[in-house]
Amino acid sequence: MRIGIIGSGNIGGTLARLLSARGHEVFLANSRGPDSLRELVADLGPNVRAVTVQGAAREGEVVIEAIPFGRLAELPRAELDGKILVTAANYYPQRDGQIDLGGRSEAEYTARLLPGVRVVKAFNTIWFKHLAQQGDPAKGPDERRAIFVEADDPEAKTVVSRLIDELGFAAVDGGSLRDSTRFQPGAPLYNRDLTGREAREALGKGS
Ligand SMILES: NC(=O)c1ccc[n+]([C@@H]2O[C@H](COP(=O)([O-])OP(=O)(O)OC[C@H]3O[C@@H](n4cnc5c(N)ncnc54)[C@H](OP(=O)(O)O)[C@@H]3O)[C@@H](O)[C@H]2O)c1
Repeated sequence: MRIGIIGSGNIGGTLARLLSARGHEVFLANSRGPDSLRELVADLGPNVRAVTVQGAAREGEVVIEAIPFGRLAELPRAELDGKILVTAANYYPQRDGQIDLGGRSEAEYTARLLPGVRVVKAFNTIWFKHLAQQGDPAKGPDERRAIFVEADDPEAKTVVSRLIDELGFAAVDGGSLRDSTRFQPGAPLYNRDLTGREAREALGKGS
């Protein structure tokens, strides 16, 4: 699959490595432009190309954003129109400044910034080093490390869940964008190192 990744830091860089290693074609962007990514893409190998932010949004069938929450308004709306956008961002006021979410979850706020975009929240509640190390396709879904996925678009949620499974994690349905408050900073399920079984149990879904 062609995957655009906006943000080439801890989370974006890790996802570029993991997804390209599984054979996906990755289009990687940051705020400073493709030239600044030359060394990183050379290290990541032939499946990863450095592009502009607009290029990553245009080229990706699925686009992942892994940038600070306070910069989300800079995402290219026109190029993302109709696309699946995975949002990994978390809101930290001390880093991102005061933002009025208007009573919305962080993912609902993101979806409101980007009307027409199929927003899926995922990868926000796993530390990037665990993301790099804990995927294990040899394990069954109950034993794998869980990654929660929330969306209002069931098809988009399925596409992203398949990618998560491919990386050797257990995609666990966390419900709607509204429900994603359960997986935000400060919530009990944020950054918990849970297996698929434990995660479903924590959501009251059993195994
Ligand atoms: N660190 C984690 O383990 C972790 C886990 C889950 C979720 N998250 C969330 O994921 C997001 C990224 O975290 P991180 O730790 O990966 O951050 P990071 O290492 O600081 O990387 C941030 C990346 O975003 C890029 N960026 C910033 N503003 C941009 C813009 N307007 N357009 C395009 N790219 C932009 C930066 O580009 P430049 O390099 O050019 O500045 C950089 O590549 C945050 O919201 C964080 O809360 C982090």
